[in-house]
Amino acid sequence: MLGIRRIATAAAGVFFAASAFAQAWPTKPVTLVVPFAAGGPTDVVARTLGVSMTKTLGQTVVIENKLGAGGTVAAAYVARSAPDGYTFFIHHNGMATSTALYRKLAYNPLTDFEFVSQAVEVPMTMLARKDFPANNYAEFAAYLKANQSKINLANAGLGAVSQLCGLMFETALGVKFTAVPFQGTAPAMNALLGGQVDILCDQTTQTIPQIKAGNVKFYGVTTKQRIKALPDAPTLDEQGLKGFEVVVWHGIYAPKGTPKAAIDRMNQAVRAALKDPDVVRKMTELGAEIVGDDRLSPESLQAWLKSEIDKWGPIIRSTGTFAD
Ligand code: MLT
Repeated sequence: MLGIRRIATAAAGVFFAASAFAQAWPTKPVTLVVPFAAGGPTDVVARTLGVSMTKTLGQTVVIENKLGAGGTVAAAYVARSAPDGYTFFIHHNGMATSTALYRKLAYNPLTDFEFVSQAVEVPMTMLARKDFPANNYAEFAAYLKANQSKINLANAGLGAVSQLCGLMFETALGVKFTAVPFQGTAPAMNALLGGQVDILCDQTTQTIPQIKAGNVKFYGVTTKQRIKALPDAPTLDEQGLKGFEVVVWHGIYAPKGTPKAAIDRMNQAVRAALKDPDVVRKMTELGAEIVGDDRLSPESLQAWLKSEIDKWGPIIRSTGTFAD
């Protein structure tokens, strides 16, 4: 009898602690870890959402850029962080592609995280430095095939979508370039603008202003359909790379064991941000599309990540690209 009473008292204690946490959370700033450099595409999405989520949560969403190894340094850091409800993580397709690109990963994307929500999808654009000797896609493809050994392809490391897009492009063209990795496509774009690298496949969230200003050469978008933000820009698919498609999707995660109350409130804050007119305007200008309501639950992010691991794993492994 005494034993049962002790268990009941302990269970009630846990229940009251959890509900006190749920009512009070968040009592201090919430960190959103970004796995690439400040000012780049992931950072832009994180900061845009963060400003709006700060209003909903009543506490500042602090962006922490944790760089390295195509986003895997940040993912490992978050997987090891305390599951106290104050560390979250935004990442894209790299959460899936890294499982095929790295022989050893210090975390398991499906079991070491809680899932919060998806957010936006972003097209990519194929670019070259401004003085690149090709004025349309046909000339671009011909030049690359004839000069592949001289071409420097900038990317943000194994696991970045710039790397994924570059790899798919090389495979489609049957060529191999020299990869020049940066810690995000913000520095990769700077190198392209400075003419230190030749080509870069990067997200519209960073490239649209540079394309519109004429600072880069632009050869097409990586989606199957043309995009509203660049309606006159042809797709790579329609210019001859049949079936070529790389679309970037962003998800928000937390360390495994983060209290459900914090996950649920973050999910609500993401949903509110995606309806915030300032967020919608900025995302639209930058070519990003807010995902449908059916993709905003934690369960849908988990299922989406699993399907992306299943989709990209065999494609990446067939190229023989990996890091030990
Ligand atoms: C970034 O934010 O720098 C990019 O998302 C990196 C990439 O994946 O290409």
